[in-house]
Amino acid sequence: MLLQMKDVKVTVQSSSGARDLLNLSELSVAEGEAVGVVGETGSGKTMTSLAITRLFPTPAIRLTGGSISFAGQELSGLPAKDVERLRGKQIGMIFQDPSTSLNPVFRIGRTLSDLIREHHKVGRRTARERAVELLRRVELPQPEEMLERYPFELSGGQRQRVMIAMALVGKPKLLIADEPTTALDVTIQAGVLSLLKRLQREEAMSMMMITHNMGLVAHTTDRLYVMYDGEVVETGETKRVLTSPGHPYTRMLLRSIPSWEKRGTKLSALPVADGREAEPGGEPAPASDGRPNGCVFAGRCPYAEAVCRKVKPELRPMPDGSHLAGCHRLEEIGA
Ligand SMILES: Nc1ncnc2c1ncn2[C@@H]1O[C@H](COP(=O)(O)OP(=O)(O)OP(=O)(O)O)[C@@H](O)[C@H]1O
Ligand code: SF4
Ligand SMILES: [Mg+2]
Repeated sequence: MLLQMKDVKVTVQSSSGARDLLNLSELSVAEGEAVGVVGETGSGKTMTSLAITRLFPTPAIRLTGGSISFAGQELSGLPAKDVERLRGKQIGMIFQDPSTSLNPVFRIGRTLSDLIREHHKVGRRTARERAVELLRRVELPQPEEMLERYPFELSGGQRQRVMIAMALVGKPKLLIADEPTTALDVTIQAGVLSLLKRLQREEAMSMMMITHNMGLVAHTTDRLYVMYDGEVVETGETKRVLTSPGHPYTRMLLRSIPSWEKRGTKLSALPVADGREAEPGGEPAPASDGRPNGCVFAGRCPYAEAVCRKVKPELRPMPDGSHLAGCHRLEEIGA
């Protein structure tokens, strides 16, 4: 495995005490594999990638437990500085909003050439030639002309392609794409996704595709992790998870794909598996400080029963053995 995360905890410290934002039993990415991380807003998708790269938004958030092994090296005990060195080199990253990562006062050519020269000992001229080559690889037309432009002169899709080019400079082993197409027009999204998929194959890179969009992972990933409240609740081959979801939360997500694409939609108000309706407000939401006992989804699950509020369900094989889900009632809920 290129990346192997085990029992990873990320904790936020505030005046009201410490709270675990992430409690990740297991997540791995093999060499050359594309893995999807899906879940609604706040489920811990971004925090999962930040645990690897240590780019936490505030010092109050820290990695407090578990093991993260990347390319044979244990990252969890490394000083932040050493992890920093991996970023941009062995680990490339793309975010939702490319404009935040591009310096608005520099032309694209300057930004790309500077980055190339940070990574490789080459002169200005060679750096510029490589920049042109990279822009070609991300299928930007007239790359020489593109180098002369400022970020504001590019469309959203073009800016995201420049970001992808920048992520490729260090020839990363793992590319983490966090909602790479969410800010783009629907018509542009497909092009950027197929580019990512093609590059992943050609460069033999591994990819972690983070998204709230279940429809998107179907075509771009080999395996899937479904997250809820900082935990993995279901995982397996993408095909298997999408065709025979076991966890009530995954079923809920799949039932509500069209409306769910609107971020922030309240899932409890949506119809759930097997024609039953969730009962909004029927159960208390999970405690906001500290982690609740039992199943993280119990507060919103139409199948919840007493055991669910007491005992945390471990990930275990589905009744047909196809993949893993963390629910006490997999057998009763059925395929
Ligand atoms: N700066 C912060 N300070 C405190 N808590 C935070 C901060 N950023 C995120 N969190 C909390 O961490 C948890 C996981 O958030 P995360 O950003 O990983 O969600 P996400 O799945 O990426 O959501 P989205 O789809 O909205 O990007 C959430 O409970 C969130 O409220
Ligand atoms: S363990 Fe219980 S509460 Fe959790 S998803 Fe399964 S049935 Fe619902
Ligand atoms: Mg996020």
